[in-house]
Amino acid sequence: MTESAPVDPTSTEGWKKLGGIADGFTPDLRGWFDSDPGRAERYTFQAADLTVDLSKGLVDDEILGALLQVAEDTGVAERFQAMLAGEHINATEDRAVLHTALRRPKGIEPALVVDGQDVDADVHATLDKVYAFASKVRDGSWTGVTGKRIETVVNIGIGGSDLGPVMVYEALKPYVQEGLEARFVSNIDPADIYEKTADLDPETTLFIVASKTFGTLETLTNARLARQWLWERLGLTDASDDEKSDAVAKHFVAVSTALDKVAAFGIDPENAFGFWDWVGGRYSVDSAIGTSVVIAIGKENWEEFLAGFHAIDEHVRTTPLEQNVPVLMGLLNVWYSNFLGAQSHAVLPYTQYLHRFAAYLQQLTMESNGKRVRWDGSPVTTETGEVFWGEPGTNGQHAFYQLIHQGTRLIPADFITVAKPARPLKDESGDGKAVQPGQDVHALFLANFFAQTKALAFGKTADEVRAEGTTDEAIVAARTFTGNKPSTSILAPELTPSVLGQLIALYEHIVFTEGTIWGIDSFDQWGVELGKQLALQIAPAVDGDQDALASQDSSTKALIAKYLELRGA
Ligand code: F6P
Repeated sequence: MTESAPVDPTSTEGWKKLGGIADGFTPDLRGWFDSDPGRAERYTFQAADLTVDLSKGLVDDEILGALLQVAEDTGVAERFQAMLAGEHINATEDRAVLHTALRRPKGIEPALVVDGQDVDADVHATLDKVYAFASKVRDGSWTGVTGKRIETVVNIGIGGSDLGPVMVYEALKPYVQEGLEARFVSNIDPADIYEKTADLDPETTLFIVASKTFGTLETLTNARLARQWLWERLGLTDASDDEKSDAVAKHFVAVSTALDKVAAFGIDPENAFGFWDWVGGRYSVDSAIGTSVVIAIGKENWEEFLAGFHAIDEHVRTTPLEQNVPVLMGLLNVWYSNFLGAQSHAVLPYTQYLHRFAAYLQQLTMESNGKRVRWDGSPVTTETGEVFWGEPGTNGQHAFYQLIHQGTRLIPADFITVAKPARPLKDESGDGKAVQPGQDVHALFLANFFAQTKALAFGKTADEVRAEGTTDEAIVAARTFTGNKPSTSILAPELTPSVLGQLIALYEHIVFTEGTIWGIDSFDQWGVELGKQLALQIAPAVDGDQDALASQDSSTKALIAKYLELRGA
């Protein structure tokens, strides 16, 4: 371990100041906006193409000042530089953390050399290999074993080897080449692979087995099922080993850091794309793990995507903390969770194409910052992590916004949208009342975006309810909104590949800021190991092995016995 002991944030002056402010804190967004006409402008920041309005947050200059002091005292900027330079800040695994290297442009000077290795050269060599392969699939020169061009790419992976590619593919659907489709199999529930392959033509299907370790139970099981499906559907079940391997060679490629295991599975190492142990799974969407997306959207769009990440990396590297958007957003999250008692954080994209964004962020944020010890093994000194969740607006409005508006819990929310819709439509007839003929539907959609953040911030007083004619005080109470519910608005020009890269990098660095303040290693994930080990131990019992069943605790034993009974085993 090369890292020095983390600074205890609770011992810093800024933290103490925040504790004092939080004591008896009574936010008043109405009053703050009334008395401060410059508030919206002062608290709106730019990071590359992202305009980020923090003014509807529960902050004032004093709070922000104290938060910035915490960032200074816990060394956020210094640790970011250490990460960029390839220091082993992933202390528990003794690894560099270099996802930012994945998007460094070709030829940038000086080259990044870490642990004696030219990282830039390695990254671009792999990218070139992925581009060359993707272009063959896209132009039809890569064919299946029967000579037909590939129409469907099925990515098999889980966690970081799935959530990123799916989210990006869904977000960039308008950029996908016609005639190509990507699908994603992740769950070991056999229903997943069954449903995703049921209607596919094996002759035009390419599987990408994406697994950093190439040892993940779910992914390898699904990969074997896919291979079995291919052989069956091509009529090769009883064919010779050579014929079977020819089919695998044309219909399977892999992405992994463990190229020896890829070869053992029967995939030609020539058709395997590598990456490195310094890329965490949940930080790997912009590595070769994105091969399915590169095939779908092509090299130019992928380069734009990477440039978007890099623009935010540069923003973080070069912008003072007080203007540094991911740092400010991370600090606000610390304020809400450590001082105001927030336990969860909603992410509400007002663009349907980002419908998997919250799911993606769940791994990024919670696998990174759900930790109870710090990077030196000592216990954390304050609450860590936030429960991230969300759904696209306006669907969420008709589901869970009630609780955000009028519930008793504080739920900070990030509202994300774009100005230019990929699919603009007009409602030519309208309803003649709320919706006029010729109404631009995206404008109507965004009216909801603006309305929600306004309602959350300013609420509706009892007097305003009464002024509308409600006289029954019980109804007045039910119709009153307290306001002072914090939100951040993020507005981008359009959901281009670059903007998507910017959004992902924004959240990566928010996570980094919070993790550094809490003193935790945001890049390991030991908390997922126990369940994995137990699943392997329990598997024989679930398969009917009586000794294995007998050795379980009484609850688990009874549940497995019930399962076996229901299954008719
Ligand atoms: O479940 C934990 C995890 O290790 C994630 O961090 C990772 O993204 C996922 O499993 C998949 O791992 P791999 O890419 O090695 O198959």
